[in-house]
Amino acid sequence: EENQRRQRIKAALDELGEEVVILGHNYQRREIVEHADFIGDSYQLSQAAADADADYVIFGGVTFMAESADIITDDDQTVILPSMEASCPMAGMAEALQVDTAWAELTSKTDENIIPITYMNSYADLKAFCAEQGGLVCTSSNAHRAFEYAFERGDKVLFLPDKHLGENTAHRLGMEDETAEWDPWDPESDAAEAVENDIILWEGYCQVHERFRVSHIEDIREEHPDANVVVHPECRREVVEAADVVGSTSTICETVENADPDETWAIGTEIHLTNHLSRWHPEVNVLPLCGDACMDCNAMRQIDPNYMTWVLEELVEGRERNVIEVAPEEKELAQVALDRMLEI
Ligand code: 13P
Ligand code: SF4
Repeated sequence: EENQRRQRIKAALDELGEEVVILGHNYQRREIVEHADFIGDSYQLSQAAADADADYVIFGGVTFMAESADIITDDDQTVILPSMEASCPMAGMAEALQVDTAWAELTSKTDENIIPITYMNSYADLKAFCAEQGGLVCTSSNAHRAFEYAFERGDKVLFLPDKHLGENTAHRLGMEDETAEWDPWDPESDAAEAVENDIILWEGYCQVHERFRVSHIEDIREEHPDANVVVHPECRREVVEAADVVGSTSTICETVENADPDETWAIGTEIHLTNHLSRWHPEVNVLPLCGDACMDCNAMRQIDPNYMTWVLEELVEGRERNVIEVAPEEKELAQVALDRMLEI
């Protein structure tokens, strides 16, 4: 069955030729990345979308990534997401309407200038909101630069939605003592107290990366004393601190690519990437950091190869399915937030 599906995808791609380009995030299943023209982290994919000439960009990833591709590509290019169910739960933890209300409360507690920075893992309306307030977008590979950009222009940063990436970035910049978590819906969490700090972290997180614990690192080092550990900065602070290397999914790929043969690397991120690295670099001993626990991203997994076959075969028939189109009123401002990131 898998072979048949592969043949159908290939036949559709042959038919469509240069009309389509397939972009695949590092967390996509093997059956998706094997057809991708470009595989990468979310920053690299946004650049690949910007560089694409094809009429159709088929996005192997989650909704916020496809939205960003729609914002960045030309108006006559169409972005297609094979499943409309592929929504990152973290992106849903900071909805623009909520943030708007919370922002009014936060800014009423200080005369100083707060710059909002949103992680790429957010929807276009929140990106637009950030641009409007003088802020920008960042990914895990450039969060520290986005913070520097913000501190050159304002006094404080509100970072959304990932508190762990925000905290890890604050540490990288030596600002850990000037950082506060803030949950506007928790009566115990006080906006007036939060704004006394330079970095205010929204209460959001990735439910895949949050599951990694220091005990996973201890266990792996006990079992494999020569093991090195690389983790994603969406992991908790103490996990990042205990690891040897921290970085975006592309940094994780490069770390394994540059490893000496027979080195052991335990990977603290979504399991599909660990499996790809083990296949792509058989000379390196690649292990999942979590042992048997299943660190699988439900949102990424929605891009089923059957859906990929469907959207491609429909395109061959001239039918566009699952088009991702950001509302024009949000598009322009969200583009400003993304352009600010691409410039830094
Ligand atoms: P990267 O930007 O590192 O690819 O991360 C995206 C993501 O969703 C991690 O969970
Ligand atoms: Fe979202 Fe986490 Fe999945 Fe990344 S791994 S897409 S942050 S849920």
